[in-house]
Amino acid sequence: MTEHAPDTNGTSDYERVGGNAAVSAVVTRFYELVLDDPQLAPFFESVDMPRLKRHQALLISQVLGGPAEYDGRELREAHAGMRITPTHFEAVVKHLVAALEEAGVEQDVIVRVGVALGATQEDIVTDSTG
Ligand code: HEM
Repeated sequence: MTEHAPDTNGTSDYERVGGNAAVSAVVTRFYELVLDDPQLAPFFESVDMPRLKRHQALLISQVLGGPAEYDGRELREAHAGMRITPTHFEAVVKHLVAALEEAGVEQDVIVRVGVALGATQEDIVTDSTG
């Protein structure tokens, strides 16, 4: 996955957004939005949410060029057999973008995160009918 190393001033997107505390807050808000969405909530019914949030925060930190390294499963493996459609995928990305916007993250950073996570679609979507 694409990562965002420091710019010419030595500032990574991770530092620009406010580091670990900011990423954690975004991830918390992101899963509130996901669990409030009736088409998505059923997927997460028996999921260990603290563990999922930790993995998602690591993944997003890594995408932002932060020091964290994602140590969860490969995304293809983690989402196998869930019959996730493009509609589900778009809804999840929409909630993540909303959480980043609410946290005041700048648009250029949001676009980079969106591009990096959008590229995971082929690993996550396993049902093209919806
Ligand atoms: C931008 C798109 C997405 C990204 C980057 C993403 C990322 C992740 C990550 C990092 C994990 C943790 C894997 C682990 O703990 O080993 C995970 C798990 C999970 N994801 Fe996603 N995901 C995305 C889209 C979706 C969608 C669209 C759905 C369902 C509608 C979904 C449902 C789940 C569920 C239910 C789990 C928990 C699986 C388990 O613990 O057994 N994800 N995802």
